Amino acid sequence: MEKTKIAIIGLGTVGTGVARLLLDHGDRTARHTGRIPWLEKVVVRDLTKQRNVDIPEGVLTDDLDEVINNPEINVVAQLIGGLEPARSIMLQLMESGKDIITANKALLAVHGPELFDRARQLGRSIAFEASVAGGIPIITNIGQCLTGNQVTSLRGILNGTCNFIITEMQETGADYNDILQEAQRLGYAEADPTLDVNGADTAQKLTILSQLAFGVRENWDRIPCTGIDMLEIDDIQYADQLGYRIKLLAVAKLVNGEVEMSVGPTLIKKGNPLAEVQGAFNAVRVRGDAVGPVFYHGQGAGQMPTASAVVADIIDTVTGRSQITFNNLELWSENHRPLSMADADNTMDRYYLRMQVVDKPGVMAAITGILGNNGVSIASIIQHKGDNGPSPETVPLVIMSHETTHGSIAQSVSEFTKSDNIESEAVVYKVL
Ligand code: NAP
Ligand code: HSE
Repeated sequence: MEKTKIAIIGLGTVGTGVARLLLDHGDRTARHTGRIPWLEKVVVRDLTKQRNVDIPEGVLTDDLDEVINNPEINVVAQLIGGLEPARSIMLQLMESGKDIITANKALLAVHGPELFDRARQLGRSIAFEASVAGGIPIITNIGQCLTGNQVTSLRGILNGTCNFIITEMQETGADYNDILQEAQRLGYAEADPTLDVNGADTAQKLTILSQLAFGVRENWDRIPCTGIDMLEIDDIQYADQLGYRIKLLAVAKLVNGEVEMSVGPTLIKKGNPLAEVQGAFNAVRVRGDAVGPVFYHGQGAGQMPTASAVVADIIDTVTGRSQITFNNLELWSENHRPLSMADADNTMDRYYLRMQVVDKPGVMAAITGILGNNGVSIASIIQHKGDNGPSPETVPLVIMSHETTHGSIAQSVSEFTKSDNIESEAVVYKVL
């Protein structure tokens, strides 16, 4: 069989998994490719670092030029994180004639328009299945399998680290920071885990899925986004008592010709498949106007699930399928007629509110008055007598609203903060 020489840039969690699959299962990749995807070079920063995979002699290098200047290497898996030098390296690689595979969602969410335009000008392709939801083939499914549809909504648990933390908090009651460290040790978290827990990584993934499904051309940091970094065990427990689980949910849905987008902790009724997603697993529920609802579930982070997606992209690129798909997708292209993101204030949802209130006559009336004046209708209200929390004269109050606008809730919360009856800022989460 003939060889196609490929290179990997970056031998961290993901790069190591990809190298393992290529080196240990070359027969498998060759069978699916009709050629041998031959690992010619692996570029790292630090040659002295201990690696968890045996790289054949002469393959490991810290000199990117050994890839750039080798015209026999046509396919490169670019597996370093962050924006720079990842962006410059990707441009250099494409300019020297390489087709690219990447897992870097931050890079695509920020520089997607520039990188995709440049790839089209140069006649190169970018494959990015691993950038969203790890091992779940969600990019291929939305970009190819569901193209007979107009996608009408996407709801996803897209960050393995966050879902792992929430699951562990709920099931073991372990400390948030200890669980985050364990997620780092297991290779789920980003090099800077702040991006996981503050919701940025999920918003970046939602940007990519929304570009694919709706053509939304919006900067990821304009998506209304709350992370799990302030999530308290109390809310997980109150939600549990009400029959819900809390998940970090990304939503994009088509309403009146615009796309409502958000990322935040969300209460999901137990028994809903999204509520049952555990540990580092991810899930995406897509609704198409022809197919109806489709549900995807699988490991969303970690070495081998992510490597699985990268290697599938390598095989598609070596066979030439990626190039066809890439051209047809027209992502971030002027030809792709975009839908815009809806104004968050007008979006309708149900809400969970929790606040620590002074335990005296008239307080409940004042709070419900604020909600009523802002047009928020209450579905249920529970004063958790006995859970006095930080000060004995206050009690936690949990309110579930009927469907209302985000603007009405935001206005109510801003009025709560001026009230002497409410001790701390209200916790506000959506209810699916
Ligand atoms: P990682 O463990 O931090 O590894 C990054 C690798 O990039 C390291 O091997 C590092 O080299 C190398 N590197 C950094 N800068 C370089 C440079 N200038 N030249 C050459 N090599 C350089 O990261 P990771 O977890 O594998 O993630 C890689 C990418 O995949 C990120 O974009 C991440 O968001 C994405 N991703 C990760 C997962 C996951 O579960 N981990 C899942 C999906 C997507 P040294 O080893 O020499 O320092
Ligand atoms: N840090 C990411 C996560 C990796 O935890 O989901 C997968 O993109």
